[in-house]
Amino acid sequence: MREFLYYSRTAPTAGNYIGEDLQKSGRIDIAIHTVIASFFLSHAVRDDVKLHMIFAGAPDPSKHLELKPVFEGKEGIDKIYLGKKDVSTIIKKMLYKYREGQKTEAFPGYWIEKKGFLELVKELKAEGRELFMLDGDGEDIRTVEMGESPIFILGDHKGLPGKEFKRLKTMCKSVSIGPKTYFASHVIAVVNNELDRRGI
Ligand SMILES: C[S@@+](CC[C@H](N)C(=O)[O-])C[C@H]1O[C@@H](n2cnc3c(N)ncnc32)[C@H](O)[C@@H]1O
Repeated sequence: MREFLYYSRTAPTAGNYIGEDLQKSGRIDIAIHTVIASFFLSHAVRDDVKLHMIFAGAPDPSKHLELKPVFEGKEGIDKIYLGKKDVSTIIKKMLYKYREGQKTEAFPGYWIEKKGFLELVKELKAEGRELFMLDGDGEDIRTVEMGESPIFILGDHKGLPGKEFKRLKTMCKSVSIGPKTYFASHVIAVVNNELDRRGI
C-alpha cells in the first residue's frame, strides 16, 4: 500500500466554487489529474493506493479529502463508480457533503474533514509512517530505501507551501524523480511506476 498527499493552496473548499471552467476553479484541474494518476491504469484501477488531498483555497480552508475507493460489492450501495470523467463531480459532491466538526464519509472510501496540511503531516508522522517529500533537490528515488507503505507528499503548480517547507524537511526525507520540474500528476505516475517495479 502506498499513499500520496497532494497539497493545493488554491483548490476550492466548497462545492459551489467549482464551476464549468476547472482551471479557473482554483486549478481543480490539477487535483483531478492527480486523482487519475494515482488510481488509473490502462483498463484497470489501483486498489493499492490511498490519496490525501489538502485544499487550502477559498472560501473555507483547509479541507482534507481522503480517497481510498472501494471496489468490492454493489455499485451505488457498497461502492461508487470511479471513471476518469467523473472525478470533478465526485470532488464537488465530497465538498458539498462536508459537515462542520466531523470527518464525513461522503461515499464508501471517500472522506472529508476540516484539517490543515501540517496537522495531517504531524498526525501521519506520529503514527510512525514513513514520509517522503517530493522535491527536485532530494535524493534520487532510484537509490532511496523505503518500506512497505510509504507516503509521498507533493505540491500543486505553486509547489509546497513555503512557510511549512522547512518544517517538512525535518520530518520527511526529500526525494527527487529527476532533473526537471514535472507536473504533479506526472510525479505520481513516476512514483507509482517505481513502486510497481519494486513490488511495493
Ligand atoms: C508542478 S510542480 C511545482 C512547481 C512549483 N513552481 C515549484 O517550484 O515547486 C508540483 C510538485 O511536483 C513535485 N515535483 C516536481 N518535479 C519534481 C522532481 N523532479 N522531483 C520530485 N518532485 C517533483 C513537487 O512536490 C512539486 O511541488
